[in-house]
Amino acid sequence: MALTISALADRPDLVEPMWDMPNSWPEFMRHDPIGGLFYGNVESRFADYVLVGQDDSGEVVGCAYSIPYVSDGEELPDNGWDFVIRSGLLSNLRGETPDAISAVEIAVRPDRQGTGLSSQLLIAMRENAARHGFAELVAPVRPNGKTDAAEPMSTYAFRTRADGLPVDPWLRVHVRAGGRIAKVAPRSMCVPGTLEEWRDWTGLPFDHTGPVVVPRALAPVHCDVEHGVATYVEPNVWVVHRTGG
Ligand SMILES: CC(C)(COP(=O)(O)OP(=O)(O)OC[C@H]1O[C@@H](n2cnc3c(N)ncnc32)[C@H](O)[C@@H]1OP(=O)(O)O)[C@@H](O)C(=O)NCCC(=O)NCCS
Repeated sequence: MALTISALADRPDLVEPMWDMPNSWPEFMRHDPIGGLFYGNVESRFADYVLVGQDDSGEVVGCAYSIPYVSDGEELPDNGWDFVIRSGLLSNLRGETPDAISAVEIAVRPDRQGTGLSSQLLIAMRENAARHGFAELVAPVRPNGKTDAAEPMSTYAFRTRADGLPVDPWLRVHVRAGGRIAKVAPRSMCVPGTLEEWRDWTGLPFDHTGPVVVPRALAPVHCDVEHGVATYVEPNVWVVHRTGG
């Protein structure tokens, strides 16, 4: 099914249905301290870089969020997702001209996942980047097919199938769309919490010091009972797309 994809800036009427779209993020991912700097400013500052996908009946079934930022020509940073959001918001607040653009998130409504919509949103995001004059779209990709928290991202990200495409389905979408896997962003996002918070978010006991395997986390969460805190450091994978723009 071909989606109708619009920039939020052109369709302010879609703001509410966009935020109302159900999503499938695990609870702990909603508590990272940086995301709000982007999501809290979408309408006021980044509406040109947010795309909303509608199905034939006009229902919002997918969203693609990106942010322009100042890279200063630096190589892709270790703190991928956090970096682009902080840099993107700061450059916007200071009125600086961004020289790069990054994906922040692509989400498909849970009941439409697995129906091939994600690549349409990704390609539309890349075309939008080109329209705004960017030659590249970079993406700190969350390889959500990674189920073995113990395996380092540095091996998982580069595992391929017999056809040469990545084992991870989401990385596969990026590569099939023409993206190049550049490197791992080892500390792309960090979620610190008290043990009480982590128990709330996961339903797990968090009662011993050491690594804890949390469902749908890409790496172990490190629990420190003596100090009463636990920290998740999420590795992502930098993918670079030429936009043709
Ligand atoms: C990641 C996401 C955007 C993919 O979107 P999608 O429209 O469901 O994906 P598609 O239908 O295009 O499928 C993409 C690939 O994943 C595979 N796939 C889809 N659902 C799958 C599942 N449940 N298990 C394993 N593979 C799956 C598909 O087979 C396809 O691979 P292939 O074309 O090589 O066969 C979507 O699952 C999602 O919104 N997830 C939650 C948010 C998220 O994690 N976003 C990514 C980080 S920002």
